[in-house]
Amino acid sequence: MRIIIAQDYQELSDRASRIIVGLITEKPDAVLGLATGSTPIGLYQKLIEKYREKVLSFEKIKTFNLDEYYGLSPEHPQSYHYFMRKQLFDHVDIKPESINIPRGVGAEPEVLCQEYNEKLKTANIDLQVLGIGNNGHIGFNEPGTPFDRETFVVELAAETREANKRFFSSIDEVPRHAITMGIKNIMEAKKILLLASGVSKAPAIKRLIYGPISEEFPASVLKNHPDVTVILDREAASMIK
Ligand code: F6R
Repeated sequence: MRIIIAQDYQELSDRASRIIVGLITEKPDAVLGLATGSTPIGLYQKLIEKYREKVLSFEKIKTFNLDEYYGLSPEHPQSYHYFMRKQLFDHVDIKPESINIPRGVGAEPEVLCQEYNEKLKTANIDLQVLGIGNNGHIGFNEPGTPFDRETFVVELAAETREANKRFFSSIDEVPRHAITMGIKNIMEAKKILLLASGVSKAPAIKRLIYGPISEEFPASVLKNHPDVTVILDREAASMIK
């Protein structure tokens, strides 16, 4: 893993955006794996700026998101469909048909998983953006998820629902299930870019870097991937030497 330590969140977002701008410049029809959550918001803002400055276009870009809450429609303000539109897609020239996010409604969860997994089989993701949960989750692959899992329905860990309740009016409204790319799908991306910001992520980053590869700490699987870049701000890096 290549580790880059940025001064602050702005620099982290800027460095991440430069990696993606570099990829799109080289390959205008690149396939991006995208994440939601707080961490990549700054990156998406930088990408929107670059698009406005005409440094890059999303016209030929395809995207695949990691996950979606089960039970939330694309119009629900806390759905990841909605998040992606507001944070990135509404502001750039990506074609609606090039956007792929697991559906959270419309069929039984197993059917939705199978449908998304089929799409991922031919996706050929060039670069997957990841955040990391305090418990080491990537996507919604919670501790204990087998590394060979493909897209599946996950029961969200209590701490994940707790961490995400800030976006809902109460904990009861946080969905209990989500559809997520499995670790096997994530590991198929050619490159991985993991971002972590803030002191709350410092213990997870310490464990990622110094801990063993174990299904108890899902992000540790990334040590088996040949091309991973981790960008941290100083706070997230505060427990590593
Ligand atoms: C988001 C996702 C999650 C987040 C992680 C960190 O699509 O799959 O794994 O990346 O929970 O979230 P933030 O960035 O809000 O700390």
